[in-house]
Formats: sequence, C-alpha cells, structure tokens
Amino acid sequence: MSKSKENLQENLCESNSLCECEIAPNDGKNSYYITTPIYYPSGDWHIGHCYTTVNCDALARYKRCKGYQVIFGTGTDEHGQKVADVAASKGLSTQTHLDERAENIKQLWKILDIEYDMFIRTTDDYHCKAVQEIFLQLYNQGDIYKSNYEGKYCTPCESFWTPAQLVDDCCPDCKRPVIDSCEECYFFRLSRYQDRLLDLISNTDFLAPQSRVNEMVNFIKEGLQDLAVTRSNVKWGIPVPWDEKHTLYVWVDALSNYITMLGYGSDDTTKFDKFWPADLQVVGKEIVRFHTIIWPGILMALKLPLPKKVYGHGWLLLGGDKMSKSKGNTANPFDLVAKYSVDAVRYYLLREVPFGADGAYTLEMFLNRYNTDLVNTYGNLVSRTFAMANQNFDGIISKDDGQCESIDSALVEQIENLPKLVDEFVDNLNLSKALESIINLCQSANKYIDETKPWLLAKQQQSKARLQVVLYNLLQAIKISSQQLSPFLTEKPIQVLKALGFGDGVYRLQTLDKLYDRVDVKSELSKAN
Ligand code: MSP
Repeated sequence: MSKSKENLQENLCESNSLCECEIAPNDGKNSYYITTPIYYPSGDWHIGHCYTTVNCDALARYKRCKGYQVIFGTGTDEHGQKVADVAASKGLSTQTHLDERAENIKQLWKILDIEYDMFIRTTDDYHCKAVQEIFLQLYNQGDIYKSNYEGKYCTPCESFWTPAQLVDDCCPDCKRPVIDSCEECYFFRLSRYQDRLLDLISNTDFLAPQSRVNEMVNFIKEGLQDLAVTRSNVKWGIPVPWDEKHTLYVWVDALSNYITMLGYGSDDTTKFDKFWPADLQVVGKEIVRFHTIIWPGILMALKLPLPKKVYGHGWLLLGGDKMSKSKGNTANPFDLVAKYSVDAVRYYLLREVPFGADGAYTLEMFLNRYNTDLVNTYGNLVSRTFAMANQNFDGIISKDDGQCESIDSALVEQIENLPKLVDEFVDNLNLSKALESIINLCQSANKYIDETKPWLLAKQQQSKARLQVVLYNLLQAIKISSQQLSPFLTEKPIQVLKALGFGDGVYRLQTLDKLYDRVDVKSELSKAN
C-alpha cells in the first residue's frame, strides 16, 4: 500500500471512518477491478483525459473505503503509426518520446492524487509477450486467418472501414479522408460471435448507460464483418510471432492490456485469477464500440469471462469556438491544479457534468463551481463552526443533554441519511449527484446556523447548553460530509477529519487553516484572455 493510501485509511479509520461504518458495507465479495482506457501518448494531456481517470479514481477510493480489495488499472497505449510520427516530428526516437510521455502522465496522475494500482505500457515486454501468446492461441484455434484486405483505411484513426460505414466518403469517426488499402493481413473471426454479442448487449446490463445500447445493437444488426487485426506497413507494433512482417493492429494489442496487466499470458496469474472479470471498465463514448463488440468478441474466443460492466461516459467539450490559443493553458490540468488546488479540479470533473452526458468546460464554469460549492458552502461551514466552537468551548464539544429542538431533527435526519444516499448514487455511477447531495447537507447546515443564530446564544450564559447542542450537530454534519467527500476530494476533507479530533463522542478541535480561498472570477478570466 502506498504511503498516501495508508494515511487515507488511517485517517478515515481514526475519525470514525467511512470504512468502519459510514459507507454501507460491501456485498460480501471483496475484490473490485476497475480500469480506464489506456491513453494515446500522441499529444499533450488535457482535462478530458483527466475526466475518465478522476472518475475511476473516486470510484476506486470509494470501494476501498467500503472494504473491497481494489485494483485500479490505467496506462498508455504506445503502438501504432501515429505515435511514431509524432516522435519523428519532434526529432525524437519513438522510445524516447514514449518514455517522456509516460513519465509525464504519471506526473499528472500524481498531482491529481490518482491512486492507481497498476500502470501498463503496451511496450512493456510482459505485455508484448502475452499479446503474442493470445494471438497465437486465437490463430491455432481458427479464430484468426490470413486473407487480403481491400477497403478503406483512416490513417489518423488507424481504422479500417467498409465503404458502407463511410460518411461522405470520409472516416465516420474523425471525418477525415480515407485511403484505399489493399494488403494481405490477418483477420479475427468477429462474425462468429455476432449472435452472442447481440444477446449480450440487448439482454444484459453489460453496457451502460442505457442511452448507448441502441447504437451498438444497430451496429451489430447491420452484420459484423471479420476484423483486420494486423498491418504490414506499420513497424511500431507487436510483431505477429510466426510472420514478422505483420504487426498487430492497435486494438487487439490495446484491449488485451486489461488482462495482461493482471498477469494473463504470464507465469503468474494470481491477480488474474482473483480479479478477472473486471467489475467496471470506464471508457469515453467514442470507444464504446471497441469495448462492447471487439473486446467481448476476443474474450469469447479466448473463452474468458466478460467484464461485468462497460460504462461509456460523455465528453467534456473544451470550449468549442471559445477555446483560443491564448486561453489554451486554462484547460491544462497541470496549471489548473497548481493555481486552484487538486480539490478544485477533481471537484469540477466529478460534479459538473452528469457522468453519461456531454458537458462543456470553461474556466468560468470551473471557477464558479469552486467558489459556490467548495469556498462558500463546505469551506464556509467548516470555518464558521470551528471559530464558534473555539471561541465558546475552547474547541471541546461533547454530545450534551441540552434540549433538542424540532429545528435540529431535520438536520440530524439529513446527516443520518447521507451515507445511504451517496451509496445509492455511487452504485449507479452518478458521482455528480453523490457530490450534490453532500453539498446539500452543507447548505442545510449553513442554513441551520443562520436560523439557530449561535452568535446570539453565545451572549447568554443560560443558552450555553443549547449552543453546545447546535455546535455538536454542526460538527456532526461536517464530519459526515467530510467522510463522504474524502474518496472524491483528496486534500481538505482529510485535513478536516483530522482536525475534528473526534473520539469517544467528543470533538477536540485542532488548528485548521482556511480550507479554500475565494477566487475573483472576473480578474482570473481577464488574466486568461
Ligand atoms: N488508446 C485508446 C484507448 C484504448 S483502451 C484499450 C484511446 N486513447 S485516448 O487517449 O484517445 O482516449 C482515452 C480516453 O480519454 C477515452 O476514454 C476518451 O474518451 C477520454 N477522453 C479524451 N478526451 C476527452 C474529453 N474531452 N472528454 C472526456 N473524455 C475524453 O482512445
């Protein structure tokens, strides 16, 4: 376990934690395997890449808190002509370029507090070897055959298309022109699995959200063609073991990462035996087809269990015409974290856009979200409550026998209901709603302060007991909301939980610096322009 992971667990446990009681316990099965797609190291990383990873990280953290043994896997997809071309255009060797990009994405995950358990690079020896084994097995059992490919090829997407799939004679994915391709290559008998794939997608919960199902069903119903899975003119790829002038075309190589990462095809399959099939594979909507048709097709051929769920999330739209070169750096995650904190970036990515839908990113929306929810609501609740508890009780607040009033019960009920509510939202992968419900509790607690007016109670000796009840309720709201926030936001909620000093029913507050600084949106926007 990494140091930070250890600390997280410790802090949560010490503070009457999520893992002990507040998050509903797990369902008896204690392993959980979640993956992101592996990223193409062709350009600079932007917050769109962070979107998938931060959402998976929050889910992985949440499951760890519930007591699951989690493997959260991510990595880089390093083969294909495109990366080789990018490296050449920079005057670098392909390997040097890839090493630098892989280091850079690991750095990005570090500043975003991404606690992955496995990081795979498809140029790793063990992966290449296992992929060759997989390919050989498929060939030996007749799922791969050699033939001539004649059709259309999109070089940027490295995708083959049938004429019927083209849109205005261009690639249906990137809309760029395709070239005629005629070459000998190896094919995967995807057509063999058409009926099983149709059944999988139409009659099970394999693909979510439901809105992505129809498109895949229609695609399969049009008839699945066998798939060209090798190239003879792409040198930067895994060679076909028995026919080295062919290299494996990216998808068989890339998709296999999800099992090779666990040791499939190696001597040590302990992790694979324990963690496969994956519980959740999260992908962007543009690669749902690969993950719900080609990937289960390959697994069916290998006679392996299928992932329990593939979730196709929407896109974060990076400003469209509003995105100018001079503004470009505002969407750079390194800059955003450095300027506004890791909590701010993670919060935006988890909260702003409902997970299945598309949504726009603008600096203005990002800053407003941060100011409204983190500064004004959560941060403000914590600082007001800490200040009053320190002033009036030297920071020591116990659950006293002071009279409970009807205004208290609504807040107490909301506090008690929160863990279950969050749990339900997380189960449905609705992380945005989970966060909304936590911030709603903080809003209610702020309103409770306005209504109970603790600053007036503090003025009279005879209302001291009542003041204590009010502050205790507020600290409970802070404790529960911080616990619930801690899988999502990695910085401040943990500090708050520590500073609450909760034990044996008593809060013994410690010093806590201001959580979040308000940002002047206008001036930030004018600086960015
Ligand atoms: N290498 C393939 C995946 C192979 S998985 C076996 C790939 N890589 S990618 O770098 O292009 O994209 C990786 C992920 O980042 C995808 O899930 C994609 O949707 C996500 N995002 C990249 N830009 C994005 C946005 N602007 N918004 C949300 N997610 C997006 O595809």
